[in-house]
Amino acid sequence: MSSPLISPSLLSADFGNLNSEIDKINKSSAEYFHLDIMDGIFVPNISFGFPVIKAIKAKAEKPLDVHLMIEQPDRYFAEFKSAGADILTVQYEACTHLHRSLQGIRTHGMKTGVALNPHTPVALLEHVITDIDLLLIMSVNPGYGGQSFIEETYTKIQTAIELREKKSASFIISIDGGVIGSNAQQLSKAGADMLVSGSFLFKADDFEAAVCELKGIHKN
Ligand code: DX5
Ligand code: ZN
Repeated sequence: MSSPLISPSLLSADFGNLNSEIDKINKSSAEYFHLDIMDGIFVPNISFGFPVIKAIKAKAEKPLDVHLMIEQPDRYFAEFKSAGADILTVQYEACTHLHRSLQGIRTHGMKTGVALNPHTPVALLEHVITDIDLLLIMSVNPGYGGQSFIEETYTKIQTAIELREKKSASFIISIDGGVIGSNAQQLSKAGADMLVSGSFLFKADDFEAAVCELKGIHKN
């Protein structure tokens, strides 16, 4: 079992000190920046938009893993690309024409991600699964940081692994919501390739130590 990739969610960062929060990620063992974009319609909350993404991109030394919790995301693919997104993840529930959306993300030169709400079965992705680079299994209902992890997620990871084998697909499995020190190892053992974590990392006194805890690495 290798260490999971870590994608810290800036939703829980201190936006008044954005540069130093970005710096924490740059200097850490985390591999990505996870940016949560919310429109107040698909989810009740509103987060931030293009000027903030561009400001993060200017300082980030790691790829941007952008998670769209917005209706009709296709309207903005070109803008997310030019703002600096490397992986662009859309919510399954927000895409009537998901196949077209995935093609659109690729055409704009980004990696494709699909997020599933807790109630959405993995099996619904069967016919587009080989077009997906990242499967984001939501382990909370999207919209807010700091919520409790939903245990049914483990079953979905297993189903995703089976689907990946059945279709000879190569997407990575990422888990988003309620990921903390006490469940990270179990998630990794269950087959999660990437862990997104917000409040656990940004509330920690020692950011790098918290990243290592999620990775299951003990530094002295
Ligand atoms: C929730 C977001 C998450 C969130 C995770 O809608 O997609 O990325 O920031 O936050 P924690 O780790 O605090 O649950
Ligand atoms: Zn997210």
